[in-house]
Amino acid sequence: MSAKNQHSTEGDWLPFLATWARHPIKMGAVAPSSRAYCSMMVRHATTELDGPILELGPGLGVVTRTLIEHGVAPERITSIEYESEFAQKLQRRFPKVNVICGDGLDLDKTLGPAEASEKYAAILFAIPIVNMPHGKRQALFSRYFERLRPGGNLTQLSYMLTPPVRSLPGVFKTSSSRRVWANVPPARVWIYNQDRQEDARTEAA
Ligand SMILES: C[S@@+](CC[C@H](N)C(=O)[O-])C[C@H]1O[C@@H](n2cnc3c(N)ncnc32)[C@H](O)[C@@H]1O
Repeated sequence: MSAKNQHSTEGDWLPFLATWARHPIKMGAVAPSSRAYCSMMVRHATTELDGPILELGPGLGVVTRTLIEHGVAPERITSIEYESEFAQKLQRRFPKVNVICGDGLDLDKTLGPAEASEKYAAILFAIPIVNMPHGKRQALFSRYFERLRPGGNLTQLSYMLTPPVRSLPGVFKTSSSRRVWANVPPARVWIYNQDRQEDARTEAA
């Protein structure tokens, strides 16, 4: 089987739509992200840094596949997916990826004490948080930043028109890609880079 066929996610729209019909808030999307959108997300993620990559809310693996196509070794990727059927399918599709069926919003519980000190090169985030109050979103992302290596960033799939999580001075700065029109619906990738304010102040002193 060729790598393309092995990783093919064509035909995933039906199980995706069916799961959305059962859990619309948890799924947050009626269709998997397009190739163009996944490429934009992976291009902005700091995968060039050494270290493992964390993917939260992989669905059936469109972003996972793109990471691998962009040269990321599958052994570097840990993907946390809440839906057990999706997680099982993902593990079959990408046997070398560390797929965990669990809650990506609670990494302490899902990754456990053995992984507590692991630091990631990049976090790719696709869990819907539109119903979460903004203060909680900032607190959640602050906890993710504690798990990033220096220079590592978080990239987020969100259809929101304004920043889903506003900059938190001293922790992260929010920016976005241009809008990807070839996606349902068209959307930007939201990018969260470490805010070096504190470092800059120390260096200047
Ligand atoms: C909008 S879909 C994104 C799927 C895929 N990454 C894409 O871009 O097409 C959101 C995914 O997050 C999963 N999800 C929702 N809540 C989650 C949670 N708390 N932890 C892990 N995954 C979750 C859903 O089951 C779904 O697969």
